[in-house]
Amino acid sequence: MQISSYLVDEEYEKEMRAKYDVYNYGKTAYRYLTVLGSYMPAKGIYSLGWNKWKELPAADFVKSLLDWHNGFERDHRDEPFHPFFAPLVYDGELTIEELRTIHEYQAGIFNLEFYYEGLAHYRAHLAGLYEIRDLFASHLFEETGHNDMFADFMEGFFKMDREKEVYPLMDPMKLAQRQDRGRYERLQKFKRLNANGHFVEIAAAAMLRERLIPKPSRMKGIGFRKHYGAKNKWMIFFDVHSYIDIYHERFGQYILGKYATTKELQNAAETAFKDTVIGQYESEKRLYGNLPVGKK
Ligand SMILES: [Fe+2]
Repeated sequence: MQISSYLVDEEYEKEMRAKYDVYNYGKTAYRYLTVLGSYMPAKGIYSLGWNKWKELPAADFVKSLLDWHNGFERDHRDEPFHPFFAPLVYDGELTIEELRTIHEYQAGIFNLEFYYEGLAHYRAHLAGLYEIRDLFASHLFEETGHNDMFADFMEGFFKMDREKEVYPLMDPMKLAQRQDRGRYERLQKFKRLNANGHFVEIAAAAMLRERLIPKPSRMKGIGFRKHYGAKNKWMIFFDVHSYIDIYHERFGQYILGKYATTKELQNAAETAFKDTVIGQYESEKRLYGNLPVGKK
C-alpha cells in the first residue's frame, strides 16, 4: 500500500465531511454521539479548511512543528506497522490473533491518555485561563465515550467479554498490577504532563499530534470491513476517528499559535510533541517485532 501522506489535508477533510455527514453522524449511529450545545471559544475552528492559526503570533513555531512531523512521517511512510498498523489492516495481512494482540495493547494506551486532561482543565480554571479551560473541556467532551466505542469493537469483532476482558485492559491500576511497565509508564507520563505541565505542552502532546489519527483510522475501517467481515456497528470508533481529529489538530494549532510565544515555552512544547510522536512510533515498532508478521 502506497500513500503520499498519512497526515490530514483539506481535500481529506472535504471527503470525510461528505462521507460521514459529520455533524449528523450521530443520528444514524446506534449510539447517540453528540449534543452540540457547548460554547467553543475558537470561532470557526470547525469550518472547512480553517487555517486562522496562521495569523496567530506563534504561527512560525507551529509551522516548524508541522514541518518536522511531515518529515518524520515521510521517513516512516513505507513501514507496514506505522501508523497504528493501518497499512497491514488495509491490506488484510494480519491474522485475527495478531489483530487482537495489537488492539489489546492499544486499548491500554490511547483510550486512557485523554482522561488525565481533566486535571489540566481544573488547573486552567484555577489559574483564570478560561479560554484554555474551555478548549480542554471541548477536547475532553469530544473524546467522551471513545473507550466504549473501542470496547464495542473489541467485544463485537474479537468476541471478548466486555467486563471481564476488555475493561481491565483500560484500567491503569490493573496495568500496574499486571506489571505492564511500558504501558503504565506511558500513562504516568501523560498524567504528570496534565498535572504539572504547561498547557502548551499538553496542547502539543495531546492535540496537535492527533493529526496522524484520521487517515489511518479510515484505512482500518476499510480494511476491517473488506478483509475481516467487520460489521458497521463495531466500526464506530474507527469511523469517528476518520474525522474528529481533523479538528483536534486545530485545537493544538490554535493554543500553540496563540500562546507559545516565548523560546522557553516553544522548547517545552517541542519536546512534548516530539517525545509523544517518537514514543508512539517506537512502541508500534517494538510490538511489530514481537508479532509473527514482523519476524517474516
Ligand atoms: Fe482526539
